[in-house]
Amino acid sequence: MIEVSPSVLAADPMRLEEELAGMIRAGCGRIHLDIMDGHFVPNLSFGPALLTAIRKSFPHTPVDAHLMVDNPESFVRIFAEAGADTVVFHLEAARDADALIDGIHASGAKAGISLRPQTGEETLRPFLDGIEQVLVMTVNPGFGGQKMMPDMLRKAAWLRQACGWRGDIAVDGGINAQNAPDALKAGANILVMGTALFRAADPAGVIAGVKAWA
Ligand code: DX5
Ligand code: ZN
Repeated sequence: MIEVSPSVLAADPMRLEEELAGMIRAGCGRIHLDIMDGHFVPNLSFGPALLTAIRKSFPHTPVDAHLMVDNPESFVRIFAEAGADTVVFHLEAARDADALIDGIHASGAKAGISLRPQTGEETLRPFLDGIEQVLVMTVNPGFGGQKMMPDMLRKAAWLRQACGWRGDIAVDGGINAQNAPDALKAGANILVMGTALFRAADPAGVIAGVKAWA
């Protein structure tokens, strides 16, 4: 199942509910919420209160909480309890990834791991049996509106081909209608889109085009 996941970071914060409702009407089946702490990445974004509010407005749409934070140990349970369907932490920030995965599952959410562009895909191998999602960063984390790094798609291909992995693979950063087919071909099934969706004249057309390709 191919999903297009709108990144809240690119929405108009003063019209967030309306913008997300529009994206769901246009065909988005999940929502991507970036959590940034100003340490792991040089930017700040949202906290758990927004996640809870989004879940209240859209109870049937799963939300992925993408934690770009140091000390994920202090935060994974908070975001799971705030209503995330999947809590995604960065392997680079984890002291004990197995404990994080267990903590997320114990809070009733699915667990995901994300990698910065510089981090090799082999680092995922010990954790693949225990997680439900891998989120492949296709830009350096921290800001929307960057150019997608095509070489990162090799990580999705490695997961599907070398590992035979069947969990969710999200790609995040600079994904648009033009490069989405390559991401899907590589094995991704969740396309996170910020700028390409919220700045599109016809988001429904973008989403339909991507889903038709699959
Ligand atoms: C970047 C974030 C992305 C970002 C994607 O650090 O993780 O989710 O919002 O936005 P675009 O699609 O504009 O690159
Ligand atoms: Zn993200």
